[in-house]
Amino acid sequence: MTFPVARPRRLRASPTLREMVRETQLRPADFIYPLFIVHGRDVRDEIPSMPGVYHLSLDRLAAEVREVASLGIPGVLLFGLPAAKDPIGSENFAPDGIIQRAVATIKESQPDTIVMTDVCMCEYTDHGHCGIVRDGQIVNDETLEILQRVVLSHAAVGADFVAPSGMMDGMVGAIRQALDGAGHQGVGIMSYAVKYASSFYGPFREAAQSPPRFGDRHSYQMDPANAREALREVALDLEEGADMVMVKPALAYLDIVRRVRDACSVPVAAYNVSGEYSMVKAAAANDWIDERKVVLESLTGIKRAGADLIMTYHAKDAARWLCGGR
Ligand code: PBG
Repeated sequence: MTFPVARPRRLRASPTLREMVRETQLRPADFIYPLFIVHGRDVRDEIPSMPGVYHLSLDRLAAEVREVASLGIPGVLLFGLPAAKDPIGSENFAPDGIIQRAVATIKESQPDTIVMTDVCMCEYTDHGHCGIVRDGQIVNDETLEILQRVVLSHAAVGADFVAPSGMMDGMVGAIRQALDGAGHQGVGIMSYAVKYASSFYGPFREAAQSPPRFGDRHSYQMDPANAREALREVALDLEEGADMVMVKPALAYLDIVRRVRDACSVPVAAYNVSGEYSMVKAAAANDWIDERKVVLESLTGIKRAGADLIMTYHAKDAARWLCGGR
């Protein structure tokens, strides 16, 4: 059947009809909201390159997470800025570190919110790399021992999921083993399985004060040109016990999201990263684009590509817009 009998426009004739045949429905439950937690009191400082995103102190956290939950967003992803940095990132696994206290605070005030913790070293180390550095090299296996200490400290205060993002080989297996060995079988692993060495992380590194002091992350994060390698990373992480896998960034990697979605059966997350957010905010601030429409179109595209979950700084705005608010 072809034109003139076939007329696809028939199904686009009215808003009701378009809604009826819409294939992808974005909803607040698709989102995870990232938060940056800092030391101090009464801090709510906007991050200059990420308008609408804040550094929050612990005393401001409960109200923020209540708001997130009230919008129907099921989970948060926590990043911490330590009081001091050192070569191994000691605060990363300190029982009273910033993230450990943040998890406890959230679980006390809003226990139903799913708390995911980013597990990486770069915010905590003085060199800014995601692993232990020896003779200018990022050494893999010693880093795993640190990551094990980090996840145990997160599990001890009630984290629901740990989210290793450092792209060290064997990180998922090492973390699963540590958690199970300490009786934390119920704590899940959301692996940043497919994380590219991307320039879209620029604003985040300002926000998290985590740029590498020397070199770059190309010896551990993936080459943006590679797709088959993404499937290899996912397969390895699933074998090691990942409960969910992530592709990051999202928008320049929608083909990867689709291929990962088709290749496995666990939930797939996509991280709509800081640079993707900042570009939209900058263009919107200039009135060059309609922020609301561009954000909802982008997030719908990420979901259509196959993401079951979307980590996004737009989460609160998008949830409001989806519920008809301004
Ligand atoms: C930490 C980490 C990064 C992001 C999430 N976890 C930065 C990096 O790898 O340099 C980026 C998130 C974003 O850009 O929004 N390893």
